[in-house]
Amino acid sequence: MGSELIFYNGKFVKSKNYYNLLKDRGFNFGESVYEVIKYSKGVLICFDDHMERMEKGLNEIMIKNPLNRDEWKKICLKVAKKFKSDECSIYIQVTGGSTEREHFVKAKPEPNYLIFAQKIPEIPEKFKIIFYPEIRWKRADIKTINLLPNVMAKFQAKKRGYDEALFFEEDGSIKEGSSTNIFYFKNQVFFTPQLNGILPGVTRKRFIEFLKNKGFKVIENRVYLWDLFDADGVFLTGTTTELKPVEVINGVEIKVFKDYKNLEREFIDFLLKISS
Ligand code: PDD
Repeated sequence: MGSELIFYNGKFVKSKNYYNLLKDRGFNFGESVYEVIKYSKGVLICFDDHMERMEKGLNEIMIKNPLNRDEWKKICLKVAKKFKSDECSIYIQVTGGSTEREHFVKAKPEPNYLIFAQKIPEIPEKFKIIFYPEIRWKRADIKTINLLPNVMAKFQAKKRGYDEALFFEEDGSIKEGSSTNIFYFKNQVFFTPQLNGILPGVTRKRFIEFLKNKGFKVIENRVYLWDLFDADGVFLTGTTTELKPVEVINGVEIKVFKDYKNLEREFIDFLLKISS
C-alpha cells in the first residue's frame, strides 16, 4: 500500500485510515467526473440527461460506472429525502478510485463515488457578467472536476461586483459562463454557441427543445462578444441557474428580454413535466 504515514494538515496520519481519501485519483489527478442535478418536489430534474452525460464522461476517462441508472436514481432520491427540503441540488462525483500516485496503473481500481445534497444558493433575478479569457483545455465537453479556471473566473467576476464570467477566445467568439451556457435573442431568433469546446449543458439542450416547441428558430453557431450588446435579450442557462436574463455586460447595460419572467416560469414547468 506504499508509504505507511502521510503528513496531513499538521500531523502524521495512518495511511490505511486515509488511503481512500488522500490517494484518490480524483483528489490527486482530477481523474473524475461529476454531475449536479436539481431535485424539486420529489422529482430529479432531467435525471436521464445527466446520467447520459456522466456515462459518456466516465467512458472518455476510462472509469467504470459503479452503479446502473436505477441504482443512481434510488440513492439520489434517498439522499434528497434525507435533506428534508422541497428543493435542493444533488451532487454526484465518481473518481478513478484510490491507488499509489502513479499516472499509469496497470489495473484500474474500483471507482470511488459520493453523493450529497446541498441547498441551492441564492440566484440573482438578472445577471451582471464580465468577459474572461478562455484558458481551459480543449475537452471542456467532459464534465470533469478540474474547475480551477472556472473558479478563478467566478472569483474575478464576484470580486468586481458581477455574478458570472463568460469565457471568450482571442477571435472574440464566446464559449460559456463559468457554470452556465449562454443564449441571445435577436429578430425573433435565439442564438447559442455551438457545441465545440463547451459543456453540453442539460439545461441548454432542453431550452433549445422548449424554444423549438414554441415555434422559435434556434441557431447553434459561432457567437461573438459584440453580438451580445446588440441583442434583444441575453440569457444564461444551468441546472441551478435555470433560465436567467443578463442585464449588464462589462459595465454596459443591455436590453433585457421583456417577458423573461414568464419565459422562465414556462420553461421550469416544461422541465418538471418532462422529468416527472
Ligand atoms: N455547472 N457550463 C459549465 C462550465 C458548467 O459548469 C455548467 C453546469 C453548465 C450548465 O450545464 P447544465 O445545464 O447541465 O447544468 C455550463 C454546474 C451546475 C456546476 O458546476 O455547479
